[in-house]
Amino acid sequence: MRSTLPYKQQVVLAGALALVAVCLSAVLAHAEPEKKTDQKTPPKKLTGAELYAINCARCHPERYATEFTAAQWKTIMLHMRVRANLPAAQAKEILKYLQEDSGN
Ligand code: HEC
Repeated sequence: MRSTLPYKQQVVLAGALALVAVCLSAVLAHAEPEKKTDQKTPPKKLTGAELYAINCARCHPERYATEFTAAQWKTIMLHMRVRANLPAAQAKEILKYLQEDSGN
């Protein structure tokens, strides 16, 4: 063989190329959009606790629900709802969760 690479390296290189080809074909096979026509389960509705974790820990760490009273949470939510730019339904879920676990 008139190659500059030793035989062992050529074998490794060929193996690596084959692996890349296999991976590429696997990726391309999955690239086709999946058609989900009969989607029976509706998108999961997030709980108050989940909405709280997602929306309320962006600017400051989460506060425990027990740190404030139900009345305090109501006032806090008036302010933080605007900050978090929450739709009414989500703000309501979060408030419900916080008040259920609140200090009293
Ligand atoms: C855009 C940023 C931002 C988001 C989003 C946000 N907060 Fe705040 N939060 C602040 C800032 C700034 C303060 C401190 C200043 C203040 O109290 O106004 C604060 C303070 C608080 C406090 C302390 C109040 C006190 O009297 O000690 C609580 C509790 C709180 N936020 C809860 C929440 C909850 C619940 C959410 C989700 C609905 C939320 N925050 C989302 C910015 C944010």
